[in-house]
Amino acid sequence: MPRHPRKRDFPVAQVRRYLEPGPILLISSRWRGQANVMTLGWHTVLEFAPSLVGLMISAGNHSFRMIRESRECVINLPTTALTDTVVRIGNTTGAEIDKFATFGLTPEEATEVSAPLIRECHASFECRLHDAALVNRYNFFIFQVVKAHVAPTPKRPETLHYTGEGVFMVAGRTISRRAMFRPEILD
Ligand SMILES: Cc1cc2nc3c(=O)[nH]c(=O)nc-3n(C[C@H](O)[C@H](O)[C@H](O)COP(=O)(O)O)c2cc1C
Repeated sequence: MPRHPRKRDFPVAQVRRYLEPGPILLISSRWRGQANVMTLGWHTVLEFAPSLVGLMISAGNHSFRMIRESRECVINLPTTALTDTVVRIGNTTGAEIDKFATFGLTPEEATEVSAPLIRECHASFECRLHDAALVNRYNFFIFQVVKAHVAPTPKRPETLHYTGEGVFMVAGRTISRRAMFRPEILD
């Protein structure tokens, strides 16, 4: 008989630790001539086509206003090469410093939005605000990805996955069960 783990009571405010497996992102924005960037772990895919992604951007962040007003952003995917920069970006505010200059990031012009791409990241997705219905209530922005830029290699970048309390998991080995999938579930 397989042995199953014994579960115990757990503080509900900490379940996030087990539910935040997506890669850490750097969200860049531009508004009134200023470029900014924030670190973000709370996001979800909502649809393939159109390509919809939801981001939770706290109202207290400088990025919140910049993104709500400009109705655009770029989702950038950093790898472990940027670990310390990811932490520094997430512990400072664009209301006080120019994070691109301070952290040595290179802004690149996007094609569909005014927010800059970050050259040092593995991928950059240009986004337009699709639905603001949940912004006031949950600080939840639903974006449509309108243009995607991705480095062809490595195929599986070593991304960072935040588990709370200053600790990250690093994307590791992959396993396949492709043969068990119904074709319509595979994209
Ligand atoms: C690992 C990590 C994950 C974070 N995830 C989020 C998030 O999902 N949503 C959010 O609003 N802030 C998140 N933050 C906090 C913002 O990155 C932080 O408040 C940032 O300084 C905001 O910058 P700004 O004021 O220039 O917009 C995170 C920070 C770190 C370090």
